[in-house]
Amino acid sequence: MAKPIQCIVAVARNGVIGAAGRLPWHLPEDLAWFLDATRGGIMIEGPACYAELGKALEGRGTVVVSRDPAKTFAGAERAADLTEAVRVAQAMPWSGPVWITGGERIYAEGLPLCSKLLITRIHRDYEGDRRFPADWQSHFARRTWSKDGEHEGVKYTFEVWER
Ligand SMILES: NC(=O)c1ccc[n+]([C@@H]2O[C@H](COP(=O)([O-])OP(=O)(O)OC[C@H]3O[C@@H](n4cnc5c(N)ncnc54)[C@H](OP(=O)(O)O)[C@@H]3O)[C@@H](O)[C@H]2O)c1
Repeated sequence: MAKPIQCIVAVARNGVIGAAGRLPWHLPEDLAWFLDATRGGIMIEGPACYAELGKALEGRGTVVVSRDPAKTFAGAERAADLTEAVRVAQAMPWSGPVWITGGERIYAEGLPLCSKLLITRIHRDYEGDRRFPADWQSHFARRTWSKDGEHEGVKYTFEVWER
C-alpha cells in the first residue's frame, strides 16, 4: 500500500522558514517534534537542507532532490526531481510516511501532494531568504490538533492540518 505523503515545517509569522542556509531560530521543542514525527518514515529534502543537517539522519530514510548527477549524499538516495523522489521513497523499506521537509521549492512543489501538514507557527517575524508558500491554507481545510509552546520568550503553536 502506498505510504501517505505529509509535510512538516516551522514558519515565522511573516512566512520565513530559513536565513542564509540555516533556521533563523533555535527552538529545542520544535527540533524534537520534527525528529520524532519523521522517525521511521522517509524525508524528501533539497541539497541545502541535507547540508544544514550535515548528514542523513538515522532511524529514517532520506531522498535528496538534486538536478546535478555529480552530487552524492552519504546515507541518502538521490532523485532528479520530486516525482522521482516520491517514487524512490515509496519503494524504500521504511513503514512510516513520506515527509516533505523542504526547502522552499520542495515545499512549493510538494504541498499539493500532501494529505497532512504538521506546521509549527512561530508568533513573530524573522528576517530570512526562504519562505513557505503563502497560499498553504488553500491545500488544507481542517485544523485537527494544536498545542502551544514557548522558549525564551518566543511563542509558537504546533498545528496539524488535513485536507
Ligand atoms: N523552517 C523549516 O521548517 C525549514 C525546513 C527546511 C529547510 N528550511 C530552511 O530552508 C533553507 C534551505 O532550503 P533551500 O530552499 O535554500 O534549499 P534546498 O531545497 O535544500 O535546496 C535547493 C536546491 O534544490 C535543488 N533543486 C532540486 N530541484 C530543483 C528545481 N526544480 N529547481 C530549483 N532547484 C532544485 C537545487 O540543487 P541542485 O543544483 O543540486 O539541483 C537547489 O540548489 C535553510 O535556510 C533551511 O534552514 C527550513
